[in-house]
Amino acid sequence: MTKNRFPLKRRLKLALPLMVVFLLLSGCGRNMFDQPKYTASSGSSLFEDGSSARPILEGTVSREFGNLNPAFLSGQDETGFLTELPLPLSEDLLLRGQQRYNIYCAVCHNYSGDGRGIIVQKGFPQPTSFQDQRLRDAPVGYFYNAITNGFGRMNSYAYRIPPEDRWAIAGYIRALQVSQNATLDDVPEDVRPQLTGASQ
Ligand code: HEC
Repeated sequence: MTKNRFPLKRRLKLALPLMVVFLLLSGCGRNMFDQPKYTASSGSSLFEDGSSARPILEGTVSREFGNLNPAFLSGQDETGFLTELPLPLSEDLLLRGQQRYNIYCAVCHNYSGDGRGIIVQKGFPQPTSFQDQRLRDAPVGYFYNAITNGFGRMNSYAYRIPPEDRWAIAGYIRALQVSQNATLDDVPEDVRPQLTGASQ
C-alpha cells in the first residue's frame, strides 16, 4: 500500500477555506430576483390605462432597430403609401442608396432600372422598367413597400436590407427615374460642359 500523501489534518486544512467560501456564497439572497417588479403584460393601478407597459414616446429611436415610427417601417400611413421620404434627402443618402441598389437590385432591375439585369438575361422574368409611366407616378413608399414585402415573383428583402437602407434605395430609384428623363437644364451649370463635350 502506498503511503497516504494527504493525511486527515492536511485534508482539513484544504477543506476549511473551501467551506468558508461556500458558506459565504450560500449567504447570498435572491433579493434582486424576488424584488417587486412588473412582468410582461401585468397590470398596474399606477397608470390611468391600467397597463404597466408604457407606450413608446413619439420620436423614440431604438438602439437595436433604429426608427420605430410605423410609417417609417411600413412605408404607409393612414392615407396610403408615403409620398415623401421620411428621412432627410442628402447626397450621402443617395450614394448609400446607389451602393445598396447596385448590390441587391441591379442584378435583375439593371443599373439603369430598365429591368434587363443579368439574371433577367439568363431567363428570370423581366420586371417593369422603373422608367414606365406607372412607376414614375408611383409614390416613393411604393418602392419601399416592394422591397419590404416583395412583389409578385420578387422576394422580400426585409431581412437583408434594414429600413434606413430601403428608403435610401427608394430615393435612389427616384434619382434613376429623373436621370433617364432629364434635360440639360436639370444639370448644374458647372458640370454641363462635361456632358456636352464643350470646353469651358
Ligand atoms: C431576382 C430578381 C430581382 C431582384 C434581385 C429584385 N427584384 Fe424587384 N422585381 C423583380 C421582378 C421579376 C418583379 C416583377 C414581379 C412580378 O410582377 O411578379 C419585380 C418587381 C419590383 C417592383 C414592382 C414593380 C411594379 O411593376 O410595380 C419594385 C418596386 C421592385 N421590384 C424593386 C426592387 C428593388 C428596390 C430591389 C432591390 C432591393 C429589387 N426589386 C430586387 C425581380 C427582382
